[in-house]
Amino acid sequence: MNKMTVKDVALQGKKVLVRVDFNVPLQDGVITNDNRITAALPTIKYILEQGGRAILFSHLGRVKEAADKAGKSLAPVAKALGEKLGKEVVFPGVTRGAELEAAIDALNDGDILLVENTRFEDVNGKKESKNDPELGKYWASLGDGIFVNDAFGTAHRAHASNVGISSNVAHAVAGMLLENEIKFIKNAVDAPERPFVAILGGSKVSDKIGVIENLLDKADKVIVGGGMTYTFYKAQGLEIGASLCEDDKLELAKELMAKAGDKLILPVDSKEANAFAGYTTVQDTAAEAVTEGFLGLDIGPKSIAKFEAEIAGAKTVVWNGPMGVFENEDFQAGTIGVMDAIAAQDGATSIIGGGDSAAAAINLGRADKFSWISTGGGASMELLEGKELPGLTSLTDK
Ligand code: 3PG
Repeated sequence: MNKMTVKDVALQGKKVLVRVDFNVPLQDGVITNDNRITAALPTIKYILEQGGRAILFSHLGRVKEAADKAGKSLAPVAKALGEKLGKEVVFPGVTRGAELEAAIDALNDGDILLVENTRFEDVNGKKESKNDPELGKYWASLGDGIFVNDAFGTAHRAHASNVGISSNVAHAVAGMLLENEIKFIKNAVDAPERPFVAILGGSKVSDKIGVIENLLDKADKVIVGGGMTYTFYKAQGLEIGASLCEDDKLELAKELMAKAGDKLILPVDSKEANAFAGYTTVQDTAAEAVTEGFLGLDIGPKSIAKFEAEIAGAKTVVWNGPMGVFENEDFQAGTIGVMDAIAAQDGATSIIGGGDSAAAAINLGRADKFSWISTGGGASMELLEGKELPGLTSLTDK
């Protein structure tokens, strides 16, 4: 990476502005998955150990109008972070103004403060999300010229709290999480140790077009599973029953298959059910075709065996998107089979590109089996598509 990192700047006694992605799931004020907080700890601890005064920024959810602010305060995050660090996280509960400035002035070396949800600034004209120049400048003025961006999950956005601050400080540098995310994902795509196998699942072809196209160019094999299988099946004239299908993507599916040749590997059977909810029959299809009135909700055992064989020997594996409705025990065998096949490749670099697949690995107890599990959903997808991330490009070159 040709960008400066947090290790390249002197932090002692400095008010250091830090963008983290604490956009964590909350239910009735309780954080249901704190991975993103845990993943930000190394950079935060490093800044504090170096004698910096850390001033943290994050968004939480999406805010269009004042009513959307309900339930989206970062107060529960400040509490959780304080518990993890074993020290007080100052939380003034505002995004600007005298109270925030006084709290920052009162910080000592090694202290930490969290600014309120940056998207609360979106209530008055989308200032955060539209990278309002005044807002970026104001937030930059709260520090001593150093901005550490560790929010990989938000790096595909050009907002005031990342790109805006970056353009108003002397040194905008990468945090350790951002650096690792880029290292693992970009290296895998741009300079993979081969064979390089990409596995893409999820329900919609339309969500994955860019990723499939880019990885067809870069990978040795692209395995496709999940709900998008049935759009590819229908494009070949196969019976798909009541399975999910994007009829407006049939031509695109045909084009992708023609371009890919035997690089694109599709399932050869499915686990099908006679309804999505309240089904009474679950069975394996004999081959590709789904029974009329049934819908495919997971890949079947023959596909699992086929995918295992295709993954065997891989030196780089990138996986994004579950193979079936993994939240339901009846339809998680495909996702588990693929995860276990990846985990069995000794010495391979294995990367999960965020979102549902990261949740599947964590919830199904396989998180420690992978080289890297991305904290970014949209950001990792854009990186896999080969796009530039504004949160990264706006940082200071080495
Ligand atoms: C995410 O959860 O993918 C990031 O935090 C970005 O959130 P956003 O899609 O609301 O910008």
